Amino acid sequence: MLLRSPTALALLAVVARLCSCEAQGDSIDAGRIPPGAVSLPPLSFAVLGQNATFRQNGFIQQFNPTNSTPPFFQIFHSDFLDILGPNAFVRNIAVNNTFASGFAFEAPFFNSPTNEMFFASSVFVPESSFNHSNRISKINMTLVEQALTAHVQDINVPFETLDLPETVQITNGATGPFKGNLLLATRGRGNLPSALVLLNPRSPNNATVLLDNFFDRQFNSMNDLKIHPSGNIFFTDDDLGFTSDQKPPPLLPNQVYMFDPKTGLVRVVADNFVTPNGIALSPDGKIGYVGDSAGITNSTLPSTVYAFDIDPETFFFSNRRVFCYIDSGGPDGIQVDTKGNLYVASGDGVQIFRKDGVLLGKIFIGSDVANMAFAGDGRLVVLANTKIFLAQIQAKSGLFTM
Ligand SMILES: *[C@@H]1O[C@H](CO)[C@@H](O)[C@H](O)[C@H]1NC(C)=O
Ligand SMILES: *[C@@H]1O[C@H](CO)[C@@H](O)[C@H](O)[C@H]1NC(C)=O
Ligand SMILES: *[C@@H]1O[C@H](CO)[C@@H](O)[C@H](O)[C@H]1NC(C)=O
Ligand SMILES: *[C@@H]1O[C@H](CO)[C@@H](O)[C@H](O)[C@H]1NC(C)=O
Ligand SMILES: *[C@@H]1O[C@H](CO)[C@@H](O)[C@H](O)[C@H]1NC(C)=O
Ligand SMILES: *[C@@H]1O[C@H](CO)[C@@H](O)[C@H](O)[C@H]1NC(C)=O
Repeated sequence: MLLRSPTALALLAVVARLCSCEAQGDSIDAGRIPPGAVSLPPLSFAVLGQNATFRQNGFIQQFNPTNSTPPFFQIFHSDFLDILGPNAFVRNIAVNNTFASGFAFEAPFFNSPTNEMFFASSVFVPESSFNHSNRISKINMTLVEQALTAHVQDINVPFETLDLPETVQITNGATGPFKGNLLLATRGRGNLPSALVLLNPRSPNNATVLLDNFFDRQFNSMNDLKIHPSGNIFFTDDDLGFTSDQKPPPLLPNQVYMFDPKTGLVRVVADNFVTPNGIALSPDGKIGYVGDSAGITNSTLPSTVYAFDIDPETFFFSNRRVFCYIDSGGPDGIQVDTKGNLYVASGDGVQIFRKDGVLLGKIFIGSDVANMAFAGDGRLVVLANTKIFLAQIQAKSGLFTM
């Protein structure tokens, strides 16, 4: 459901035309705006007026004042033009309504040697349950390139679902490659423990569990993870497995851990979250970002990404501060580009923030996006449950892999 208020929209259109934001030091050069993108300087909607119909909900109602048809780009700051480049576009590349609540929900992973994009299906009932794990599938990006070159109108590349070992139960996060493998954060299921798991991207897709306990106690349900340049793995653990009826009640706080795969050392590096969800690291490994997504179910709770300094020797997260607050759902998965900009999965698509926290723009999908990942330079693959989108932009991935 989109913002519905003819009065507010008409008013906004007038204000947008009158507004010249040059006095504020930023002007969005109309000549550099890619086709279909919408320019929304913040001054154009700073005042909506007493008669405006304001949004009552941060999740099911979205901020789309131009009433544009998704997918498209919203530009809030001229720096977004450098991320997009002149020929940017976003379009649907796969669609499927099976697998209950979504075939392409989370855990995006790009395997460059085979040019394949992997992803996990929904972690929610009925696709994932106490008695049933979700699935991991993949698409062949060469087929996407071929369809684009051939100017196919409605691209819908097929996906292939993997046969997973029993040690992989309800995958919610993925990163890597880690020594050629997918590195997964799995929720576990019933009494099967939540775990960090390595999965071979090639047949027979065998797996090795790296960590499944904290000194003999089960994790609540791991959510997402990243590899640090030091080789340590940072991951979030929340209670969504319990609230989704897949796991027993949590026995630990919802917090952020570090695991050193060389020594087996595991410890808490940050706490005080309601629902620690996505995690990302600046390309130089000095800043850690953790999203708290509690606001999805209760809009007075945080929908906030926090930034931390990562101590180069102890790896504890310190100097916690607000990095951004998401106006729509989320924050869910987080990725970075080479310049340190943050890409945050949200209730309306992908929101892109400069490293000082300024919202530059959105890849507006018009529905919930749980995660996205670069599939090579300039290719951002966006997972939207029953659909996968490709945003062809100019930015490059800042993800650390080993
Ligand atoms: C707001 O609505 C009131 C009552 O309908 C009307 O008198 C007023 O002119 C409206 N104001 C604007 C700015 O449209
Ligand atoms: C959706 O996926 C299912 C399972 O792989 C497959 O059987 C079906 O043909 C797909 N549907 C479409 C429209 O591609
Ligand atoms: C992807 O598709 C291309 C074109 O059909 C094919 O040559 C290639 O072998 C496929 N890749 C994989 C990993 O199957
Ligand atoms: C799941 O498994 C439990 C324990 O075996 C069983 O009691 C329950 O009926 C099962 N639920 C479903 C939906 O199959
Ligand atoms: C998969 O099996 C091969 C052959 O036994 C082994 O070398 C590799 O380490 C395994 N990969 C994982 C992720 O378990
Ligand atoms: C939302 O969270 C606030 C703050 O914790 C709490 O007071 C309120 O009861 C919650 N609302 C609902 C509907 O759960």
